[in-house]
Amino acid sequence: MDKLVLNSIKINQIKLKNRVIFAPTSLGLSHKETIEKYREIAKGGVAMIIVGDVPVSKRGFLSMYNKKSKQYYKDIIEAVHNEGALVCAQLHESDSKFTSLIKYIPLVLVKKMTPNDLRNKLNESVPKFISKLSTRKINDIIKNFADASEKATQLGFDMVQVHGDRICGSFSSSIMNQREDEFGGSAENRARFASECVKAIRRKCPNIAIDYKLAVRQENPHYGNAGVLFEELSIFVPILEKAGVNSFHVALANHGELEDTIPPLNHPYFKEQGCFLKYADEVKKYTNLPLCGVGCLEKPEFIEEQLKNNRIQMVAMSRQLIADSEWVNKIKNNEEKTIRYCIRCNQKCLKGMQAHQGVHCIYEGKI
Ligand SMILES: Cc1cc2nc3c(=O)[nH]c(=O)nc-3n(C[C@H](O)[C@H](O)[C@H](O)COP(=O)(O)O)c2cc1C
Repeated sequence: MDKLVLNSIKINQIKLKNRVIFAPTSLGLSHKETIEKYREIAKGGVAMIIVGDVPVSKRGFLSMYNKKSKQYYKDIIEAVHNEGALVCAQLHESDSKFTSLIKYIPLVLVKKMTPNDLRNKLNESVPKFISKLSTRKINDIIKNFADASEKATQLGFDMVQVHGDRICGSFSSSIMNQREDEFGGSAENRARFASECVKAIRRKCPNIAIDYKLAVRQENPHYGNAGVLFEELSIFVPILEKAGVNSFHVALANHGELEDTIPPLNHPYFKEQGCFLKYADEVKKYTNLPLCGVGCLEKPEFIEEQLKNNRIQMVAMSRQLIADSEWVNKIKNNEEKTIRYCIRCNQKCLKGMQAHQGVHCIYEGKI
């Protein structure tokens, strides 16, 4: 029987050979290890790899404009292309000033403050940062998104994803955005920053495929702080589509506990397969663009069912592909029974990243 997950799909001018995408995952590994990890995942049969957190800034760590990082991205792209997969750059800009936290570093070093506390402090500084950003600076950042897309194309990336959970997400959220100008206030105004970024990309790169990571937040119970409120999707989705988005990657918004967006098996609320798909269901009401689901998607039968019901058209996985990069090949070869399932323990992936040891898996080294 045909498996829908193996069917190709077109997004703007690019063709994904199947429906499986490696979700953006900052790996925290050395450059060499990162390239090898991406190569391994591409070899496992996925259609596309999204490289997480590629800065749009012209300076700084991992900027695409710096000679060393430029080579790093080119090496990733070459490795992934050689294995027959496409590569997408997740474009982001920070929504806080890390320098404002330097005073807390000694406390972290003597363990009087945990890295998580530091992250919370950073999140607390976001509303002030967003509200104080001058219009000139806003326009510079919007231009940086357009320039970065052109740069990404020149480096060989096949697609860009606008990260809707950093600065775009913070502008979108009434919790983070307390501006009183045309970028704040109503949902339409809060959507302006993200839509201007997308429009600027579209103007600069008319043919590029643009995906948007639509970070959704919800109340009752409250989850996610930046991003688009569930009830405001009806306003944001058409605005973003009109701006030039070609597909949406739908997830829970962050700027809260990382374990909400990367839920462990015992998460009090997000414990089911496809725990964020209810957001995709809502997005679907306002667009016919392809939707990519993400979050606790591991089981082939469940995924096939969601594709069959047209709930989503693509599936992105992070931890499952870290646990078993051969997921797609195993489906292709009717070897589903041998898939090594992610048990969502977060021990070596999320916690590895938090401990600055890089993303690994409890299965690593085990056959
Ligand atoms: C170690 C780690 C790093 C991540 N880094 C990013 C990132 O850079 N950008 C992003 O948008 N999401 C990031 N994510 C979130 C994933 O893209 C994904 O949404 C989340 O893990 C849920 O999917 P899963 O259940 O398939 O792991 C990361 C997840 C993990 C586990």
